[in-house]
Amino acid sequence: MVRADVLVLFGATGDLAKKKLFPALYEMEEEDELQIPVFCVASSKWTQEEFKNRAESSIRDRKSEVKEPVLRSLLDEMQLVVGDYKDIKTFEALRDALAAFSLPVIYLAIAPDMFADVTQGLHAVGLTKKARVVVEKPFGRDLASAITLDNELKSILSEDQIYRIDHYLGKESVEDLLVFRFANTLFEPVWNRNYVSNIQITMSEDFGIDGRGKFYDGVGATRDVLQNHLLQVLSMLTMEPPIDMSSQAMQDEKIKVLSAVRDLDGDSVIRGQYVGYLEEAGVADHSDTETFVAMRIFIDNWRWAGVPIYLRTGKKMAESTMEAVVEFKQPPRLLFKAPGSKKPEPNIVRFRMGKRDGVDLSLQAKSPGSALVTNTVDLTVEFAAALGERKEAYERLLDAAICGDHFRFTRIDAVLQSWRLLDEILKKPSKLIPYFENTWGPDEGLELVPGGWNAVGSEAENKMNLGNASK
Ligand code: BG6
Repeated sequence: MVRADVLVLFGATGDLAKKKLFPALYEMEEEDELQIPVFCVASSKWTQEEFKNRAESSIRDRKSEVKEPVLRSLLDEMQLVVGDYKDIKTFEALRDALAAFSLPVIYLAIAPDMFADVTQGLHAVGLTKKARVVVEKPFGRDLASAITLDNELKSILSEDQIYRIDHYLGKESVEDLLVFRFANTLFEPVWNRNYVSNIQITMSEDFGIDGRGKFYDGVGATRDVLQNHLLQVLSMLTMEPPIDMSSQAMQDEKIKVLSAVRDLDGDSVIRGQYVGYLEEAGVADHSDTETFVAMRIFIDNWRWAGVPIYLRTGKKMAESTMEAVVEFKQPPRLLFKAPGSKKPEPNIVRFRMGKRDGVDLSLQAKSPGSALVTNTVDLTVEFAAALGERKEAYERLLDAAICGDHFRFTRIDAVLQSWRLLDEILKKPSKLIPYFENTWGPDEGLELVPGGWNAVGSEAENKMNLGNASK
C-alpha cells in the first residue's frame, strides 16, 4: 500500500488533539514513523505561536520524558491553517498549502455533525480525489443518522477512502483477545455454550465528563462507548476465527456475530446518571442522558446460544477498569467440598485491558491440610512486565491510516449492525436511575447478573457497595 505524503488534522485546537493526537505524533516522530508534514486546521483564531505552544504543552503534560530535538523537529513539521469550517476560503487556503502533496490523510477530530460539511468543503476544492479521510466515533447517533451520514460521505468518498476510528481497535490489549483465542489450542475448544456459563464486560471510569459536557450530554454512555468500544471487545471475544488476518476477513466475522445478537428488550437494560451530573457545565437542565448503562444480551448462534453476556460502562464509578471476564461452568459433581464450606469457585479467564494489561486465569487447587477442599489460585501475567511496553492506540491508528491499512478501522456494515442492535433502546430509553459517585452504579445494574458481577479491578471487592441515590 502507498504511504500518504501529508497529514491534515481538523480540530487541532480541540480536546482529542490535545490529549491523544499530539502525544501520538510525538511518539511517531521519536520512532521515525511519521516522516510527513502535518497541517493542522482549526476554527479558533489562534496564531502559529499559540498553537505550537499548546501542542508543546500537551506533549510535555503527557510524556514523562521529552527529547528536545524530537519535539523541535515535530513542531517544525506542523503548521496551522485557521478558518471557519463552513467557509470555502478555509478550504481554498488548505488546498494552496497542500499544493506540493498528492496523497493526504485527512483526520476529522471534530464534532460528528460537522463531518459532512467539512467533506463537502474538501471536495469543492478538489482535495478528496485521493484523500484518506479518518472520522472519529460515534459514527451517527442511531441507525437512521448513521445511514444518512454514510450516504453523505459516500456521495464524495468510496468506502476504501474512509477510515472510521474506534480507538479500542488500536489497543494492543484488545487485539490480544484474538491472539489469546486463536493462537492457543488450550482455550478455543472450550470457548462455547458447552463450557462457558456467562461473559461479563466492564468498562468503568472513576472520573466524570471532564469538561466535555456539551459533547457528552448529546451522546450518553450508550453512544459514547457501548455502541463502539464495548461491542468491539464483545466481537473479538465471541466471533468465529477469520479465514485469514485480512481486514476483509475480520470484518466479515464481526458482522456475523453482531447480526446474531438477539433484539434487546428494555427490561435487560439499566440506565443510570451520577448525582451531580446535572450541575456539570454544558449539561441541559433535567437532562435524561445516561452516564451508566448495563445490559444483558444473547447471541443466538450455534456457539453462544443460551449464554448470557453482560456489558456495563459508567462514569464516576468506584474504579477505572476495562475488563472482560469469561466464567466457565462448574464441573458436573463438586467432589472437593468440605461439609459446610462454600463450593469451589468456577474457572475464570479475566482479560485486563485498562491498567496493568494482562490476563488472569483462575483455577482451583488443593488447600493445605488433610481435607480435600479447594482454594482459588490465579495464574497472572502482566504484559508490560512479560513482553515490554506496548504502543498507544492513536499512534498505531495514525500509522495505519498513513499506510492505508483498514485492519484497525470499522467497516460501515459493522457500524450499522451495532446501531441496529441498540436502535430500539435508544428510541425508547428505560428509566434513568440516579447513583452516587464512587460506587458501581445503580443496584439494578449490579442485580442484572444473578450471583453478582465478578469483582473487577484491584480494590473492587471492598467497594461493592450499592450505589442508588434514591434509596
Ligand atoms: C472515548 C470516550 O471514546 O473513550 C470517553 O469518548 C472515554 O468518554 C474514552 O473516557 C476511554 O478511552 P480509554 O482509552 O481511556 O479507555
